[in-house]
Amino acid sequence: MRLTEEEERMLKGGDGYVTMKCMEYLVEYGEKAGAERLVNIDGIVDIRPGFTGVELFFSEININDPQLYGKHFKVPTYTNKPGPSFCIDGWEDLFPPLNDPEFHHKMMEGLKPYWRLGAVPTLTCDYYLVSSYNPTVGQHCSCTESSLIPWINAICGARTNYDGSFASAWTGKIPAFDMHLDENRLATRHIICEAELRNDMDYDLFGWAVGEAMELEVPVITGIGKPTTSQIVKMNSTLNTGGQVRMYHVPGLTPEASTVEAALGGKKAVDTVVIKRGDLRKVYDKLQYAGGENVDFVYLGCPHYTMNEVQKAVYLLEGKKCKANLWIMTNPWTFKMAEMMGYRDIIRRAGGVLASGSCPGMLGGEGFMPPNTKVMATDSAKQNYYITGLNYPSKLQAWYGTTEECIEAAVTGKWKGQWK
Ligand code: F3S
Repeated sequence: MRLTEEEERMLKGGDGYVTMKCMEYLVEYGEKAGAERLVNIDGIVDIRPGFTGVELFFSEININDPQLYGKHFKVPTYTNKPGPSFCIDGWEDLFPPLNDPEFHHKMMEGLKPYWRLGAVPTLTCDYYLVSSYNPTVGQHCSCTESSLIPWINAICGARTNYDGSFASAWTGKIPAFDMHLDENRLATRHIICEAELRNDMDYDLFGWAVGEAMELEVPVITGIGKPTTSQIVKMNSTLNTGGQVRMYHVPGLTPEASTVEAALGGKKAVDTVVIKRGDLRKVYDKLQYAGGENVDFVYLGCPHYTMNEVQKAVYLLEGKKCKANLWIMTNPWTFKMAEMMGYRDIIRRAGGVLASGSCPGMLGGEGFMPPNTKVMATDSAKQNYYITGLNYPSKLQAWYGTTEECIEAAVTGKWKGQWK
């Protein structure tokens, strides 16, 4: 890699030990990735405390080292949910060890060194919906989260790979390859959506179908209507579950290309893929891993529910009583607002739990679900995929459907969802 004078100095230890270790990591990573240089980033959205933080990559750096006192990350930095995982809010309503005050206190203490360095504790997979940093067109940043990568690249028109880490937050630099370079952001294939996308579930399924068809290619997509924020978030999460789509263009919606021709850089598409209603049905069928009617546990909030989604669930739940366990997971900031508005009380009165900062998938699967869960229902294709994978081959059963069907299952303890 070609380094600037400043970067050479940082690499040789001229800016201190921690900077030197971070630069060693970034240069090695960049060389392995084929990057020719580093690029300055405008922000980092997100590091995962204790996860892709110092412990994993830099055993030589102690996050509690007094040398770090009074020092701060170089760029605005926000945190994803922590790992090892635990719930930030609502934990009192869960089960051991999650509801143990000592356990919770110890886990929260582990996050504080990151706060001292300036990482804002958004502590969620949808950090970008609640933080005050949304990169603008052409800005470079560094992130780690499936739904976030296409949000940054496609929706914001900013530039990121999947590589948020302590090193990039500390130095404000990242290797310039893949999505940081103009030529890799052009579309090569055209997706035409011929299915009318009518609700959140349709966008969830559509993202999966596109992910499966595209793998790592950049598509230009037409025919998806005018998705809401929640629908974009859902679609982005399944683009990176069914496949690995980190960038796409939707002329009229995403900022980098206003026409199909511009998205393709004036070239012809390698091919055109038409997604029809039958393709969504195929994904839907794939996500049904259950047989019987009984449901023990309903999980809502993957990616973590937005305020509008919490509100929708609360309206559906108000005045009812659940027969099955119900968790509604959100980010800590939305949790506080929902609590203030009395939504947590409504959910609790119905026998459900409002919590923040984690999910059954992140917590580790079966051992971290309400005891004796055999059949779960969820409105998220991503959670469904992770949870059945995590529990394989113990055969946890999982139903997938709309939010309305999931709330009905929580209230009746029965699954009545069906393809419409
Ligand atoms: Fe978030 Fe868990 Fe889904 S951390 S994106 S809710 S798998």
